[in-house]
Amino acid sequence: MDDRAIGIFDSGMGGLTAVRELIRRLPGEDVVYFGDTGRVPYGGRGRETIIKYARQDVAFLRTFDLKVIVIACGTVSTTALEALSQENPLPVIGVVEPAAQAAVRATRTGRVGLVGTRATIASGAYERTLRRLMPQVQVTANACPLFVPLVENGRYQVGDPLVELVVEEYMAPFKAAQVDTLVLGCTHYPLLWDAISAYLGPQVTLISSGAACVDTVARLLEERDMKSGRTQGGRRRYFASDSAQDFDALASIFLGEDIQGQAQQIAIENY
Ligand code: DGL
Repeated sequence: MDDRAIGIFDSGMGGLTAVRELIRRLPGEDVVYFGDTGRVPYGGRGRETIIKYARQDVAFLRTFDLKVIVIACGTVSTTALEALSQENPLPVIGVVEPAAQAAVRATRTGRVGLVGTRATIASGAYERTLRRLMPQVQVTANACPLFVPLVENGRYQVGDPLVELVVEEYMAPFKAAQVDTLVLGCTHYPLLWDAISAYLGPQVTLISSGAACVDTVARLLEERDMKSGRTQGGRRRYFASDSAQDFDALASIFLGEDIQGQAQQIAIENY
């Protein structure tokens, strides 16, 4: 039994899709979330910058007594997981391996699609992992740089003409490739789930990378006897590097619950 908190971070709000799943699956766990809202997006930045930012995010989280760190960000997971795992004496879990495992379990045809930020797609990390798990897999990958700003501005609903236009633009290659599974390799994208699913049709299984990594967290805590003694009522703390009010206002969209007044702003450049 281990009552220490789970630390979880993202470049912005998207990691809250993983927190939502974490709260649903493991409601007794304490969670400390950091969203680097002052520096989002990471996805168009270079490798060195992403690693530097990720180290600062982890340094802030480690001011708390944590049992595990979850990188709820596709961009950081594909770029900095190895460095962060080597540098920290506690388990660090990213989204790539869990999402790739879920995709391999889901596909019937071996035609798997992948969407993510430019940095995520350029890293090739998802393709390598998918190929290791399923050598015959056929991967179609596409960077979707307009999805994050759409979602961060609250534009994700089915029927919104702007959303439908962008979804069609990015999803057409997957329809043409007849994928039967699509990995949402960025933690912001599950907000667009309904719009993407409406375009691709019900025969395509969508995989949320944030939700998939919660499976891995749950298994790790079980295997290492590190679950909290509580089964309900875990404490949640939210931190952001930009306005706490803005974080609170947008968080409910990602979390599905209101956290008015709970977030605090911190100066991430001091870490
Ligand atoms: N949350 C990031 C990811 O999952 C997307 C936003 C960004 O580009 O920083 O890749």
